[in-house]
Amino acid sequence: MASPATSIGNVACKPSALQAIVFEAPRQLQILDQLLLPFESVYVPIRNLEDGHRAIRTMQVRGAPAIAIVGVLALVVDALNSNRPVAPTAVGPFLTYIDDSIKYLLTSRPTAVNLFEATNRLTRHLENVAAAGTDVDGLKAALLAYGEAMLTQDIKDNRRIGRYGAEYILSGGHTPVHDGNQADPARSWSVLTHCNTGALATAGWGTALGIIRSLHAAVNSDNEHGHFQAYCTETRPYLQGSRLTAYELVHDGIPATLITDSMVSALLATHRIDAVVVGADRVTANGDTANKIGTYQLAIAARYHGVPMIVAAPTTSIDLGRRSGAEIEIEERPQEELLAVTGRVTLCGTPEAQGEEENVDASLPATTKYRMPLAAPGIQAWNPSFDVTPAALIDAIVTELGVVTKNAQGEFDLAGFIQTRR
Ligand code: MRU
Repeated sequence: MASPATSIGNVACKPSALQAIVFEAPRQLQILDQLLLPFESVYVPIRNLEDGHRAIRTMQVRGAPAIAIVGVLALVVDALNSNRPVAPTAVGPFLTYIDDSIKYLLTSRPTAVNLFEATNRLTRHLENVAAAGTDVDGLKAALLAYGEAMLTQDIKDNRRIGRYGAEYILSGGHTPVHDGNQADPARSWSVLTHCNTGALATAGWGTALGIIRSLHAAVNSDNEHGHFQAYCTETRPYLQGSRLTAYELVHDGIPATLITDSMVSALLATHRIDAVVVGADRVTANGDTANKIGTYQLAIAARYHGVPMIVAAPTTSIDLGRRSGAEIEIEERPQEELLAVTGRVTLCGTPEAQGEEENVDASLPATTKYRMPLAAPGIQAWNPSFDVTPAALIDAIVTELGVVTKNAQGEFDLAGFIQTRR
């Protein structure tokens, strides 16, 4: 795929095609507007809490880890922004201000646990810093350091998830599907994924897509004969697969094929697929996993066809406080997302070029909004953004601490695993 048009929003455009979050400490935060990808790369500024909340709710930024990082960095720029001196100047009121800000941020999207987990840890951290004796400037410094550390830690974790997941698949750690050739890296390998779990959903590299990146690199570097093939679903209705995952795969030169969500069973029935690898928005203590709508039916189809179902999740996506998926709140999004495609079209050239070219009416807006109806007017639509895949249908959960498989009772012991590995 060619690079997207370099359209410039209200801030300078950045060169990196796959950097969802650009933070220039201490107070410049921009996000790549994922509503416009893959056709335009526009970075929009996040100047305060309200900007952060809006970007998460409207899904300009999405993906569980990216939501958490942008949420926390929105707190940082909000509290540090000298042009907007809203944060109180005494320690007690400052902590209350942060607490209220977090409560507001948490109303943006309910299902992914990462923002809840990150802000919980942040609250405890700031309370400890305050208890050790500091002023508001000290708290702001601690807040900034915490936000910056999230960015670097997420990439480290994703690299580990990628490596563990690729090793696990290559070593045939799972139930063999295609007898005789599981442990042979010099053959063809195929993996199916759903939604977008890559650089765009994280600080970089990705979780499930990180495994695909690592597996592709391992197969390609290891031999001359092996071949790697990724399949990705469209992921209706927001199209994270066809717009974002496909964009990342093409960008990286990974051989990849797009299918509609309804082609999954046919693909598994007719092609050799070594594993289904997906991300997670919240994994409960028993291994039940909330992820993008459609993951559940993918897991059912994978089990029927004997294909291992692998969940890639940093431990920040594991919610030991909830026993099972029944306790997860599933976000329902507007019907409109199903009923129509909406977007923005650039009428002519970049906004800067408008009016400078001949035959361009400078009075026209640089871009215009469009809405293309997809369904019969008057029909109702149900739009849950996530579903819960029961642990029974999951073969392995790949974390940055290693791969969790089931014990002799056929259960995941996530609490025990995390305790022993940390
Ligand atoms: O609605 P989205 O796009 O935020 O949903 C994203 C997913 O479901 C991802 O699979 C999940 O957040 C993991 S991202 C590493």
